Parts: sequence; structure tokens; C-alpha cells
Amino acid sequence: MSYASEISKRRTFAIISHPDAGKTTLTEKFLLFAGAIQSAGAVKSNKIKKSTMSDFMEIERQRGISVASAVMSFEYRGLKINLLDTPGHKDFSEDTYRTLTAVDSVILIVDSVKGVEEQTENLMKVCRMRKTPVIIFINKLDREGRSSFDLLDEIESKIALKVLPLSWPISRGADFKGVYSLYEKKIRLFDIHPTEAEDAITISDLHSAELERTVGEVLAGQLREDVELLSGVYGFFEKQQYLAGEVAPVFFGSALNNFGVKELLDTFVDIAPLPMPRDSDQRAILPEEEAFSGFVFKIHANLDLRHRDRIAFLRVCSGKFERNKFYRHVRLKTNLRFSNPASFLGQKKDVIDEAYPGDVIGLYDRGNFKIGDTLTDGAAFTFQGIPSFSPEIFRELIKTALTGKQLEKGIKHLTDEGVAQLFTMDDGRRKIIGTVGQLQFEVIQYRLEHEYGAKCRFEPLAFYKACWITSHNLIQWEDFCRYRSDRIGLDKDGRPVFFVESEWMLHHYIKQYADIDFRLTSEIKAVPPAKETAMA
Ligand code: G4P
Repeated sequence: MSYASEISKRRTFAIISHPDAGKTTLTEKFLLFAGAIQSAGAVKSNKIKKSTMSDFMEIERQRGISVASAVMSFEYRGLKINLLDTPGHKDFSEDTYRTLTAVDSVILIVDSVKGVEEQTENLMKVCRMRKTPVIIFINKLDREGRSSFDLLDEIESKIALKVLPLSWPISRGADFKGVYSLYEKKIRLFDIHPTEAEDAITISDLHSAELERTVGEVLAGQLREDVELLSGVYGFFEKQQYLAGEVAPVFFGSALNNFGVKELLDTFVDIAPLPMPRDSDQRAILPEEEAFSGFVFKIHANLDLRHRDRIAFLRVCSGKFERNKFYRHVRLKTNLRFSNPASFLGQKKDVIDEAYPGDVIGLYDRGNFKIGDTLTDGAAFTFQGIPSFSPEIFRELIKTALTGKQLEKGIKHLTDEGVAQLFTMDDGRRKIIGTVGQLQFEVIQYRLEHEYGAKCRFEPLAFYKACWITSHNLIQWEDFCRYRSDRIGLDKDGRPVFFVESEWMLHHYIKQYADIDFRLTSEIKAVPPAKETAMA
């Protein structure tokens, strides 16, 4: 198969949602349709569901939330689909943001009973920033809830993106009859006990009297009215607008009952973007370029406790990746080769010989990689755009004398993985851990203990945010550094960071030090730390 047709076969995406909206259920249905797993009905069993294929970590099973993002690849209708799983829990949102830099599109699930929830709004901000194409699946139509028009209004206003329904539900809750596909111009009737993978009844003409016979006169009339209204209000689907991230097509269904899932998957396969270009510090890198390049967006340590594996997940951006070939690690200025690169189906790993743009591969790593690192065929560019956001909670790490060395190692590994952010103060003597939520501290403590045999404790710090600071004004810079030396530290790459105590104080400093740039977001740049420590 030619290089161009390999690229055109790839679709790389993530499913994102607020916890409990149905991400695990939908993921498993996709895998079932594709034949990648066989256990139909498994999702209904709590026991099996909570140890779903994408759940990597012991702690996840204990808590029933998805802590680590996993990658699943499967074939569907002749395409190679790479599905990047994301943790739904708010405390791990940084992991999700980073994963969003490695996909070409997303499917957003909205719970039709709860509507748009907080986590969804945040994730969509990142998608909008990156102009990522989004398809929306409104789930749990088998339950009573708000009207579909209300839901669309809410989605449009809360995620600030134009929506366009491609399917429309016929009633909902106990009375849910099915959906009309505005894309295929077909009606599919809901059957709570489907014999096939999905229900089989289709009616191709909306005006046929068959509609009355199957859904009744009232609902038939309502559907015809709704569909007319829809085309007036939302207009018609244009793929280009979706690909530009301007319009989000919407589907309705019930993942648990396998309803509307196949339409969603089939339409996704029809319209989702091929691997897209990625920005580097020198230029945009196109997937069609034959020289290999890729970047690490996630690191996962010790999947298998017996081997203490560490896997760097790399998104291939251009060219063909080949096993056992030397590639340039741009930050370390060294060449590395990989004898057992892996592709994934949940916990099942396969060694692969080659990979193409859009693919995500796992590289076994002995501490060479950090999130954001670029690997190339020899070129010296660095991929851009993996953001690092200011943490919300800060604590100082207090070590217990007995486990000092293991603790240092564990903290370094965990923060390289992006589990939390590490800052240092007082020439490295004080270590500050920053997280989005409390749960991350529990994960860190659990993993330090179970994977590194190290115990620690955390002292709370009353910081509001970490601001990355730069300035071209030497006098102001020196004055500020002297004045607030007790609150200035370095991030993991050696960049100066100011820990501000409150929002009010931040505004005060911004006014007082007009030539100092205070930023709550940094890009993770894979350049040598020495360059980064410069004042500006
Ligand atoms: P998540 O990964 O987004 O957190 O959600 P997950 O798929 O685990 O689904 C959360 C809950 O919602 C599960 O119920 C699941 O069965 C249910 N669910 C998913 N899709 C639908 C749907 O279309 N209709 C209805 N009515 N429920 C749905 P649970 O009680 O937490 O688990 P379980 O005991 O059902 O396995």
C-alpha cells in the first residue's frame, strides 16, 4: 500500500465527556462494532465495566474513574481508527488537554438528562482554541429529560460552538421510539432488545404512511414538524465547516442500548478528518512529508509492575516510523532506536514494525523522554502546542528520611509523566507539587508507595496560581525578584515562576510591574533547560 493511502486510512480521535455521561459505554460499543472485543453485553456488568480494557491502573479499579489515558486502535470499514481515551475526572484534566493535542478530531458526549456540565465546557475551550473538529453525541435518550431543542440551545451557548443535528429523536424516555437520520434520510426504530448489533427497521420516506403505523399519528406529525423547523433553524450540513471546527454535527442515542451508536460511528468514519498538519517552532509539518517526525504527549510508567516499564506515547506526525531505525531525540541531541515499539488495544500490546501519520505508538523508555519531546529523522525542529496550565492546588513535598532517594526518583518520573507539576525553590532544596485537584495527590502518594516504595507527606501552601514570568526590563525584573524572592521558583524546565497569593494581588503586581509578563499558561517546550532560564 502506498504511503499516501496509508495516511488516508487513518482517523485519530478522542471521546471526551463529563464523568458518567457514557464514555466507557460508547467506547466499548465502538470496539464491539469493529470486532476488536467480543464480549457483547459486558458493559452492562459493573464488574467487567469497571475493569474495562482502557483502565490501566490498579487505583482506577479501586476508584472506578479513569486516571490514565489509553490508546486503542481498531480497523473499521477498511480504515485504521486510533481512539485515544481520556480521563473524565476533572482532577486529571491536564492529561486530557495534552491528549487533545495528539488527535485530529473529537466526539463529545453530553448526558441528555444533565446537559452540559462544567468539565465539558473546559474541554471544549481547548478544542475551540485548537479548532478541533467536534461531533456531539447526546446520550441516554432512553431516560426522561429535557426537550431536544432546549438541549441544543444549551450546548450551543455553553460550548460556544454552532451545532447542527444530523439525527433527531422521536420522543424520549419511556416513550422513546427512535431517531430520524437527517444525514441518511432514514428512520431507525428503537428496540430495547435488539437481536442484531443494532435494530434493523428502516423507513426511508418521512412522508410515508408507514411512519404513522410505526410511531403513531401524534409522533409522526411532530417529527415532520420538527424536521421542517430544523432545516430552517440550523441549515444544512457542510463538511468543510465541520472540518474547520466551526460547526459541530449532533447525534442522539443511547450508548447503553446500542442505539444510534452505529450511525455515529459510520458518519464519523465518513466525515472525520485525516491526519492533520502540526505546528513546529520552524514551520507546519505536513503528514505527507516523507521524513519521519512525531511528539510525545503522554508518558505512562510501570504498567507492568514486574518489569517497571515506562512507555512514552508518541503521535506520528509525518513520514514512516520504522522499528530498529535510529531517530533524533531533538531535546537531548542524541539518536535513539526502538526495538519493540508497541500499538495498543487497551492493555493488550503488539510490537509493530512501522507506523504512519495519525498513529500513536508506545516507546519503551528508560527516562529519556519528557512530555512534549520531538523525535525526527534528523531535522532539529520541535513540535509546539502542548500547553501547561497553572495548577490550582500547591503543596510542599516533605520527605521521610528513609525513602529519600526513591522519593526523588518517583517524583521525577511521575512529574515527567505529567501526573502533576513540579516546581523548585531555594536552589532545589524545596519541592512544590502543583495539581488541578486533590485526587492527584492521592494518586501520587499511592504510586510512590506502590511503585517506588517511598513515603512522603505534603504541607499545604496558600498559593493561588503559578505565573510564568518574563521581562525585557532588567531594572523591573531585578526589583521584582528581590522584592518577591520568597515566592519565586523554577518549573521543571528551569523557567522562572511566581507563586501569587490571590487574584487581587496578581492584578496588583500586573499594574505595579507593567514590564513583567505574568502568564497562567505555558507551552511545554522541549528545548534544553539552560536556554529557558534566561530572563526573557
Ligand atoms: P463514563 O465512562 O463517561 O464515566 O460513563 P460510563 O460509560 O461508565 O456510564 C456511566 C453510567 O451511565 C453507567 O451506569 C452506564 O451504564 C450508564 N449509561 C451509559 N449509557 C447509557 C444510556 O444510554 N442510557 C442509560 N440509561 N444509562 C447509560 P452505572 O450505573 O454507573 O454502571 P452500570 O452498573 O450500569 O454498569
